[in-house]
Amino acid sequence: MKLYSRITGTGSFLPPRRLSNADLVAELAANGVETSDDWIVERTGIRARHFAAADVCCSDLALQACTHALQAAGVVAADIDLIIVATSTPDMVFPSTACILQHKLGASGGAAFDVQAVCSGFVYAVSIADALIQNGSAGKALVVGAEIFSRILDFSDRTTCVLFGDGAGAVVLEASESPGVLATDLHADGKHVGILCVPGSVSGGKVVGEPLLKMDGQAVFKLAVGVLEQSARAVLEKAGKATTDIDWLIPHQANIRIMQSTAKRLRLPFDRVIVTVDQHGNTSAASIPMALDSAVRSGKVKPGQLVLLEGVGGGFTWGSVLVTM
Ligand code: ACO
Repeated sequence: MKLYSRITGTGSFLPPRRLSNADLVAELAANGVETSDDWIVERTGIRARHFAAADVCCSDLALQACTHALQAAGVVAADIDLIIVATSTPDMVFPSTACILQHKLGASGGAAFDVQAVCSGFVYAVSIADALIQNGSAGKALVVGAEIFSRILDFSDRTTCVLFGDGAGAVVLEASESPGVLATDLHADGKHVGILCVPGSVSGGKVVGEPLLKMDGQAVFKLAVGVLEQSARAVLEKAGKATTDIDWLIPHQANIRIMQSTAKRLRLPFDRVIVTVDQHGNTSAASIPMALDSAVRSGKVKPGQLVLLEGVGGGFTWGSVLVTM
């Protein structure tokens, strides 16, 4: 009998410190950086973001999100045999945040590793977990997107520091006789490394390069809109579905204008797009699972509905997961 993977629970967590645009504008102004609520809302749709406290790690946010997802699925941590954490802001160089998370969850023995595909990390992680479940290597997986982007922002660069936030989202993905994940589609093109990167590393006990986020916003914008449309069409074709079959599109929450352009290109009414960027900012790999959890808990996304998850980000990476809830 063919095995599928199915989302059986979702969870998310936002660190408690919320900064509205007005709060951030005031903080930046105190350091001589000028921006405004009007500029941020008009260009991005962002109204607020959350920042983690200094003593909080990526795995702490992930732990909270996973606890909620496990509760929703009615699964205990001891039964999890696969943990994949998508993150670009891990606790340490190594071991993986997934291993640290596994221990914090009180689980042991199953596979645990991180995926580094920046804002596409969650769709990459779900695709890998789906494959491992389909081939019988895992039965109950936690797939997580967790980020503390506030640690890698240059708060003297107004073109980037107003865009990002911290948070975590998770799903429990379980083996099932009915789908579940219908199709996945992953891509990368490394020639675009320079348009979105954190060009720093650790060498000889020192940080070398510049470990702060750099972005050519307009180049990212143009690429993002094109590849999101292509990937949506590719994953739908693989599953034998049409854009009109989609109940909800949950794209990476980077910028409301990218989401509007994507919906327009797909001829999808914008009221079928889940939007959380206004309250979360861009939380990179965490944005899709946080948006999914928010849509499930608010009752928008219902069992049996067809949901298209789409990620795009540094690498350049992009991809989609088409799933029946
Ligand atoms: N406040 C006020 N003014 C600003 C700010 C700010 N925060 N930032 C830039 N400006 C100014 C610029 O200096 C420029 O002024 P000028 O015309 O006098 O030179 C003007 O606003 C316009 O700047 P642009 O860069 O042309 O603004 P644009 O409309 O392109 O919006 C933005 C910038 C929001 C970054 C947009 O390009 C974008 O959203 N790009 C995609 C970014 C994205 O999605 N990134 C995440 C990818 S996911 C990942 O992997 C992390």
